[in-house]
Amino acid sequence: MRFPPSFLDDIKARLPVSEVVRRRVKLTKAGREWKGLSPFNTEKTPSFFVNDQKMAWFDFSSGKNGNIFDFVMQTDGVSFPEAVERLARDAGLAAPQRSHEAEAEEKARLGLYEVLDLAASYFQAELAGRSGAKARAYLAERGLSPETQARFRLGYSLGEKYALRDHLAAKGVPAAAMIEAGLLIHGEEIAVPYDRFRDRIMFPICDRSGRVVAFGGRALAKDVPAKYLNSPETSLFHKGSLLYNHHNARKAAHESATLVVVEGYVDVIALAQAGFPAAVAPLGTALTPDQCALLWKMAEEPILCFDGDKAGRKAAYRAIDMALPFIGPGRSLRFALLPDGQDPDDLVRSGGAAAMAAILSRAAPLAELIWLRETETGVFTTPERRAALERRLAEVALEIKDETLRRYYNADFKERLFKLFGRGAQANYGPRRAERGSAAASQRRRWPNPAGARDFAAQGAPAISPSLANSPLLRPGVAGLSSREALILLLLLNHPGLIERWAEAIADLEFAAKEASRLRDALLDLAGAAALDRESLKAAAEAGGFAPLLQKLEALAAHGSHWYVKAEAAEPDAEKVLEQALTLHHRARALHRELQSAELALVMEANEANLRRLTDIREQLLALGGTEAAVDGFGALPGRPSRGV
Ligand code: UTP
Ligand code: MN
Repeated sequence: MRFPPSFLDDIKARLPVSEVVRRRVKLTKAGREWKGLSPFNTEKTPSFFVNDQKMAWFDFSSGKNGNIFDFVMQTDGVSFPEAVERLARDAGLAAPQRSHEAEAEEKARLGLYEVLDLAASYFQAELAGRSGAKARAYLAERGLSPETQARFRLGYSLGEKYALRDHLAAKGVPAAAMIEAGLLIHGEEIAVPYDRFRDRIMFPICDRSGRVVAFGGRALAKDVPAKYLNSPETSLFHKGSLLYNHHNARKAAHESATLVVVEGYVDVIALAQAGFPAAVAPLGTALTPDQCALLWKMAEEPILCFDGDKAGRKAAYRAIDMALPFIGPGRSLRFALLPDGQDPDDLVRSGGAAAMAAILSRAAPLAELIWLRETETGVFTTPERRAALERRLAEVALEIKDETLRRYYNADFKERLFKLFGRGAQANYGPRRAERGSAAASQRRRWPNPAGARDFAAQGAPAISPSLANSPLLRPGVAGLSSREALILLLLLNHPGLIERWAEAIADLEFAAKEASRLRDALLDLAGAAALDRESLKAAAEAGGFAPLLQKLEALAAHGSHWYVKAEAAEPDAEKVLEQALTLHHRARALHRELQSAELALVMEANEANLRRLTDIREQLLALGGTEAAVDGFGALPGRPSRGV
């Protein structure tokens, strides 16, 4: 039904938006506009605005806006023609006579629905008939029950060239209508248009109210070029703005079934049969923004299912890029990656509904998948690579148009970066009070320590003393602590002066052993409260319940060769060891985190690149183990125990 634009303009000119809106929303004047509480959401502060000059309303709580017709349609739930008729009456205008042309168009459209419905029934009948045996066997073999086939109106198109055409012609359908409906192949070269779908399983594609608007056909024969063939675009069928099974899913999602988006028609049907009625699929193309909008009308966070293989993940990533500009509060996506090479149909057939439910329950939020995408291929061992990652994430967040959500995404990414790398390179750890001394000396104390790192890597670390190599300090797991953790704690206990100077870096440490972090916290508290000497610090720690741990640490320290942890060692020596230990500890933690993410990537996709990444990180960790031993070998430096011992 069409109205001449001039008629619509007349209504708008006679009815200010504020007048139409005021019947539902209490408005107060706000400058040149009106404002009130959103009719779409419950809220306490007005976010609904009306501008009579612009003939428009804006609802910031829901992101909706429009003219008077939109308002009536959305608040009264009526169709466009109905809204126009109501408002025309309010404006004192008689509804216009509809033009012959418009009427004819309308009729033709209605006619097309009928043609398509006839075709669907015909295909169904052929599936049930004598020539449908092969197709029936195929569907049975795929595990689709007769009830399921009927529910989705599955059918079969004969292998003949004119079967459907003749059938419809006998019912009085003109060939032009069949062509309009996309059912025939035609063209200048083609004298007699013939059936588009031949020898295929037929999947009727419906609009959101369940009317057939197109077909998908799956080839039964193996040697056919297109496994699936879809109707062409027609006046009823716009691939990018329809979803397969939308009409059923809408009802089911409303009754709070989980909305799931899969890739294929058979996946949708198999899921429905397995008890997931709110499944939809795009029509053989990547998901479009229009389809996304349809999804969000049904659910806040539909779950997109993709094959866990590379192609599937690529498709998931494409969906991310498509959706980012449109996400907002209450409008997002989740992602379920299926086991390698399986689609939902395979999965429910092999593992039943439980397998699918398990996959869905593990669906990853959008932010998580973005993180995976940006980190899965990289080893972030250099500042440059880390900076590049940070920049990419910022660019991704920039795609999000919704300002509030963008802010939260930035925060989320920052947190993930922090977890991966610890504080960024700009964070300046080190002695809290500037020490008197050369610039080089204070540079040396900065942490993470660029100069130090170079020392270890390029110039080679100081050699390890043979006795230390066998020291219990270097054996992992002593007293539940790593050797490095024990070393750090001992240094602090015996040189309380270091605690304050390195407070920030110490506070930032992640210990594997809980006991170690508790002692660390206690030491920071104690040293922060008063300048304590070694004896009173120890006494206070013992009083705090750390006596058993202190005993173990002291037993380690008693080992003859690591003199620098002992109380008698000169503080500058001890400090140097502490500095290196902190750097290494931090580095090891970061590598462990990368190791985890690399392992995840490998589980998701076992390929060369992911395997290489994992091996690479493992090697670095191993190398770090060697470096760690070398730190402990500080004592082997020339001029060893120059002071102390
Ligand atoms: P898939 O190739 O993943 O197949 O296509 P499928 O859905 O698992 O099909 P079965 O299980 O072999 O029957 C996924 C979707 O992509 C579209 C169809 O919409 C299909 O459902 N497609 C696929 C096409 O449009 N044309 C093709 O040639 C193949
Ligand atoms: Mn399949």
